[in-house]
Amino acid sequence: MAKYLITGGSKLEGTIRVTGAKNSILPILAAALLTTKQVVINDCPSLADIEKVLGILRAVGCKVKREKRTLIIDPSTITTWVIPDEYVKQIRSSIIFLGAMIARAGKARVTYPGGCEIGQRPIDLHLYGLKRLGIKINDSHGYIECEASKMLGADIHLDYPSVGATENIILAATAAQGYTIIRNAAKEPEIKDLQDFINAIGGRVSGAGTSTIVVEGRKPKNGTEYTIIPDRIVAGTYLTAGAITGGDLLVENVVLDHIQPIIAKLRESGAIIKASGTSVRIIGRERPLPIYHTTTLPYPGFPTDMQAQLMSLLSVASGTSVLVETIFENRFKHVPELIRLGANIRTDGKTAVIQGVEKLIGTTVSSWDLRGGAALVLAGLRAEGETVVENIHHIDRGYECLEGNLRSVGAQIERLED
Ligand code: EPZ
Repeated sequence: MAKYLITGGSKLEGTIRVTGAKNSILPILAAALLTTKQVVINDCPSLADIEKVLGILRAVGCKVKREKRTLIIDPSTITTWVIPDEYVKQIRSSIIFLGAMIARAGKARVTYPGGCEIGQRPIDLHLYGLKRLGIKINDSHGYIECEASKMLGADIHLDYPSVGATENIILAATAAQGYTIIRNAAKEPEIKDLQDFINAIGGRVSGAGTSTIVVEGRKPKNGTEYTIIPDRIVAGTYLTAGAITGGDLLVENVVLDHIQPIIAKLRESGAIIKASGTSVRIIGRERPLPIYHTTTLPYPGFPTDMQAQLMSLLSVASGTSVLVETIFENRFKHVPELIRLGANIRTDGKTAVIQGVEKLIGTTVSSWDLRGGAALVLAGLRAEGETVVENIHHIDRGYECLEGNLRSVGAQIERLED
């Protein structure tokens, strides 16, 4: 298994460009099934999760080509409405193909996506929304079979603003008769990106970015060339790398609005942030200030996908900080690893109390999930001496060439393949 060898202490200085958002690309790849015309999607980084979803598109009959960061998809022929098990088990977000395949083929079959490292990841809200559209769901023996001879637009209220459930309902509702209203919908920027893509291929969705989304039952019939929004979590991760090393880093290709919750916290830790247009410059403090209290919340609250990275920064702050993780029930697996590096952190349920220490000391640590792994890399950039981060396949799911980008701004990091 690959690992990173990091020698801490370098202040990061220079420029890093952010690419398209993984969590936009995944639902938009599913949305490609809604049309029969070619779609071209730009600024798609080469990430393990994206390559797996491209495998699903090929497995159901689409022709898929990658030319650097451009994906060319020909969805004209679909050969099956079954989403292959092996992909669903590897990448649980492939559940998003349920709504898209029902819209395209009138039926779909998918194995129950397992939980993952960060939580049980139920899909009850997805299934609730699909049922409200009149989809018949046979849910047995670990499989979900959906059949929709006729879908009718519905008024759907989500108990919780689930990102995936909002996306699945939007995708299915494009093929329902009449209008569908999704209330208490997720407001993440990736939902707006999905809306804009569906409208670009001829659908009619409105309200994304607010709590109420309206989907007109209108089958998209066009092709398009579409550019994905920048990845706000990757941007936040690199900005935090600038903060934790006390460096002076310019992060390019960001949507300022999307990273406001992250910038606010980095400013609170004493970093200087200068934003202009689609670039953000961060000048880190020698030692970060503590942040009294942070709670992860649905957008536009502080994102759960940045919780681990912020914890790494706060582990060397000049005081005590409190971090509360309200989105996922098992997203503190990086805590024991940070403690191995010398951090002083106590967790109790969904609350972590981080007493900042003067310094972290390099040692061998393990990634247990995507963002926790990224957080350990950040901690290694700060720690004295050498840090080895193991199981970095988790990190490859969401960061394209992390070591190359960090090395380009002065980090001492190399990838060791077993
Ligand atoms: C998306 O996951 C993202 N993944 C996650 O990013 C992100 O952390 C999450 O949204 C929250 O922002 C993708 O977009 C591919 P949810 P998703 O449905 O859709 C509960 C990363 O690191 N829930 O909003 O699965 C669920 O258990 C990943 O890039 C139900 O109870 O998130 C969780 O506690 C990690 N029933 C909460 O809602 C449901 O039917 C948030 O889940 C669905 C969700």
